[in-house]
Amino acid sequence: MRWFSLLLFVPLLGMGSISTAQDNRKEELQPIPTVDLKRNAPVEYNTDIAPIFENKCFVCHSGKQTEGDFDISSYEKLMKGGRKRGTKVVVPGKAEESFLFLSCARRIRPIMPPKTEPPLTPQELTLLKLWIDQGAKAPTTTRVRARVVVGLPPALVKPVRAVAVGPDGKQIIASRGNQIHIYVAEKKQEAGKKEVLDWVYQRSLVDPNVKWPDGKPAGAAHVSLVESLAISPDGKMLASGSFQEVILWELASGQIRQRLTGFTDRVTALAFSGEGKYLATGGGPPSEEGELKLFDTASGQLITEIKNAHSDTVFALAFSPDGKYLASGAADKFVKVFEVPSGKFVKSFEGHTHHVMGVGWTPDGKRLISGSADNIVKVWDFDKGEKIRDMPGHQKQITALMMVGKTPQFLTVSGDATARLWNADNGATIRQFSGAGDFLYAVGVSSDGAVVATGCEDGLVRLYDGKTGTLVKTLAPAEAAPPK
Ligand code: HEC
Repeated sequence: MRWFSLLLFVPLLGMGSISTAQDNRKEELQPIPTVDLKRNAPVEYNTDIAPIFENKCFVCHSGKQTEGDFDISSYEKLMKGGRKRGTKVVVPGKAEESFLFLSCARRIRPIMPPKTEPPLTPQELTLLKLWIDQGAKAPTTTRVRARVVVGLPPALVKPVRAVAVGPDGKQIIASRGNQIHIYVAEKKQEAGKKEVLDWVYQRSLVDPNVKWPDGKPAGAAHVSLVESLAISPDGKMLASGSFQEVILWELASGQIRQRLTGFTDRVTALAFSGEGKYLATGGGPPSEEGELKLFDTASGQLITEIKNAHSDTVFALAFSPDGKYLASGAADKFVKVFEVPSGKFVKSFEGHTHHVMGVGWTPDGKRLISGSADNIVKVWDFDKGEKIRDMPGHQKQITALMMVGKTPQFLTVSGDATARLWNADNGATIRQFSGAGDFLYAVGVSSDGAVVATGCEDGLVRLYDGKTGTLVKTLAPAEAAPPK
């Protein structure tokens, strides 16, 4: 048996490496053999290949770490190759000419992964070879894998970080920790009284692949905290943003429609375009990069990645009413506007002295509104690129801003525990929504302005009558807690 395997490896090693003087090196470079997998189905990138890269290459070739300028976190990036070998990394149809295969097989130097890390198994190597020989085809499935919740169970983290209200005001969606809870309006009739609407917990959105370390389902939507939510204009789809991923859910069924990946960090902002054709995502690693991308909602395809959109995390996004522009606000204090779908930079608005946490457009598309952690709302003339007015009022940082349907009115929430309804035309505060005793993070509103919901540090969603400012109901997390 020993003889057999030695014979097998001799031609691969080349003559020099069998000399006794190089015994150590020969040991290191023992090539990994391929095996007969007896496989009929074509090798599929997401199912067969991506998990190998994730386990054995991601530490050095994804996120902030890209050794040799080689990023293996997505198919597109992989096919670009790295600094030195470029398109020689994967030569479709020819594993024997691909640096990726040869280095993983330990047949050329540098070997991958380096000898300090666990090597590929013969099975993994064979899958890699087959995949390249079969043409190195792009993924044909949506990535599904078991994802384990580690560290502090985010189920115990209660603050409501994101809220979305259905356009008709009949659905309220809130994120707490890594969970997403849906509340719906039901008709309620008490004897002798007129029929009223009551909001009750309906269900949680659950990704069945998210598990606790013991393998039990975590009943969660994402592995990490849910940072952002957006509901499609027709009220049928919900986008949720978390660390390095966005999920598009079908609200009627609670099913996952698309999973978008390839983000470098948290996804902290989401916005659908007016007809729901595009989904814009914002985020990025703090103090490094503002990541801004545009996806086709139906297919989940990336349309545009706006490079260097901001120099820090993006927290706010809004499409212009005519759909031609996308406005963004970020931790770099700027409000910027880009063309849709090209991503071409149009102009930027400078004046805030802290993170920009919310942006919006007036219905005529002529003015931009921004709310900031500097406590101030600003209204800007889009064409002239100038500020029209400052709107002070909040005592602490503004954390979110939301336009009310097709009106010049908008809502803000703040660390000062209040929500406010404003008018962009004259700068007036129309009303305040009080009753929260703690920091507010999120706000949502129905398109007619009648249903207003806020998300608070204390874990409560407060539901207000938008026309009067009256607190209608508080939606507590206990009602929504899934079975552990
Ligand atoms: C411990 C860190 C580490 C791990 C893990 C690792 N690599 Fe590398 N990789 C490097 C370094 C360092 C370089 C740059 C070396 C060079 O180009 O000479 C590199 C370069 C590469 C390149 C060359 C890119 C180019 O065009 O020059 C490829 C391809 C590659 N690695 C593939 C992989 C694959 C596939 C895996 C997982 C199976 C992997 N690496 C795991 C550190 C690592």
